[in-house]
Amino acid sequence: MKKVFISPSILTADFARLEQECKSLHKSGADWIHCDVMDGMFVPNMTFGMPIVYSIRKCVVLPLDVHLMIVEPKRYVEQFAKAGADIITFHIEATDDVVGTIDLIKKCGKKVGLSIKPNTPVEQLLPYKGMFDLLLVMSVEPGFGGQAFIEESLQKIEKARELFPDVLIEVDGGVNFSTCQKVIQAGADVLVAGSAVFNADNRKQAIEQLRKC
Ligand code: DX5
Ligand code: ZN
Repeated sequence: MKKVFISPSILTADFARLEQECKSLHKSGADWIHCDVMDGMFVPNMTFGMPIVYSIRKCVVLPLDVHLMIVEPKRYVEQFAKAGADIITFHIEATDDVVGTIDLIKKCGKKVGLSIKPNTPVEQLLPYKGMFDLLLVMSVEPGFGGQAFIEESLQKIEKARELFPDVLIEVDGGVNFSTCQKVIQAGADVLVAGSAVFNADNRKQAIEQLRKC
């Protein structure tokens, strides 16, 4: 059986207790920590930027999976790299300079993730084949935690798996105990889960349950 990585999103964390929250994810068996960066422009919500990523970097050793939901992400790649991101994922809808952004992430020595919103076909990533490490399929409209999984995402995950057999497929949005099984069956390698982990009474059990779905 292939290994499924769990990357809890701290969007649903208690930010006043961020250190304890991140340490609790580590103790509970999370593989990565997913950091949702929003600018209020690319998505209708704002979250946090480099200083918070840097603070998280100081308190856990887990890989930081930084999901940039910002316009013209290239402007901030170097700063997120310096703050301690390990994987930098950006939306191809957010820039006309996808290749330049990929090159800059690589120049900073980080893994490259490309993401698509629910209405963007997977085929739009074909021009970048061979240039990236991770493909993040959004299974809700980006911007908020706690939304319902969009069922049509399953076909997109299958298509992503077929077109890009060598990259990690990550799925983000509405991943919980009732959707994880079909998401993994469709071909996902990495599950992002915000509310399913943070709202669970027992986070360790929740992470195990998601992984074994
Ligand atoms: C949404 C974010 C997701 C979100 C996931 O824009 O990218 O990472 O926080 O939250 P849940 O798991 O609650 O859907
Ligand atoms: Zn995300």
